[in-house]
Amino acid sequence: MMSNQPSSPSQTQDQDYELFKKKLVRLVNIDLDYYKEAQMKRRITSFRDQAGINSFILFVNQLEKDPVLKKKFVDYLTINVSELFRDHALFAKLEKEFIPQLLKRSPRLNIWSAGCSIGAEAYTLAIILDKLVPNSKHRIFGTDLDEEIIKRAATGVYSKEEVRQVEQPILDKYFSLKDNKYHLHDSIKSRVTFKKHNLLNDPYETDIDLICCRNVVIYFTEEAKQKLYRRFFDALKPGGILFVGGTETILSHQAIGFKLSQTFFYEKPL
Ligand SMILES: C[S@@+](CC[C@H](N)C(=O)[O-])C[C@H]1O[C@@H](n2cnc3c(N)ncnc32)[C@H](O)[C@@H]1O
Repeated sequence: MMSNQPSSPSQTQDQDYELFKKKLVRLVNIDLDYYKEAQMKRRITSFRDQAGINSFILFVNQLEKDPVLKKKFVDYLTINVSELFRDHALFAKLEKEFIPQLLKRSPRLNIWSAGCSIGAEAYTLAIILDKLVPNSKHRIFGTDLDEEIIKRAATGVYSKEEVRQVEQPILDKYFSLKDNKYHLHDSIKSRVTFKKHNLLNDPYETDIDLICCRNVVIYFTEEAKQKLYRRFFDALKPGGILFVGGTETILSHQAIGFKLSQTFFYEKPL
């Protein structure tokens, strides 16, 4: 039997948020159902309140009308913070152990930086490969759901903070300093391509030697993460490596088929 009781304020707020989520998928192709609800709701409420709007529906209507606010919101939601050689010690491992191991099997590597933000990770890999095997040809591609950040990635221009973990000889060799910004040389930039891609619902490529997906899944639900890691497993070649963030672990890696090579590095067995 239908109740004639008026909705409580919290029911009304839930409906408001549900409608907001539906409209947001259409507006920016971000499906909040795949993200941890409590954290996301708290972050979005804080942004919305700062914009001086007190309901989710009014907020999404405003996002529709105001491209500047929409861009700011997508930037906020996707948290694009990144830097070259982020977690320096782990990239050193990649350089000394994993990439040489992959190169033994295949002289032309296929490398994916998934959730690449400003391209720092993809370019870090291009620099490492140039150091290890100069003039060799590999395919390195970065993907992100945020179209604006992909455009920035393609410029290869970084602030002092974004290159703070880069050793001086590498900075000298691969960057030019202009107007207080570090400009990556074309010789490295031209080795990386970028494209828009949503990890949660776009198709994945296959035959990949190395996938780096770091600091991307923090707000994903456990279910969305599991699905993603399974899809990464399928995308890798046998012997391929998945490199995750310095705070991330794949709880069910064995069930998926991964072997934990070292902390943060998962291998698809040969
Ligand atoms: C904090 S950055 C990480 C950048 C880089 N991987 C690193 O570790 O420095 C997170 C990136 O993940 C992207 N992202 C979040 N959800 C995504 C999704 N569903 N599909 C693709 N990219 C996503 C964001 O747009 C953001 O640029």
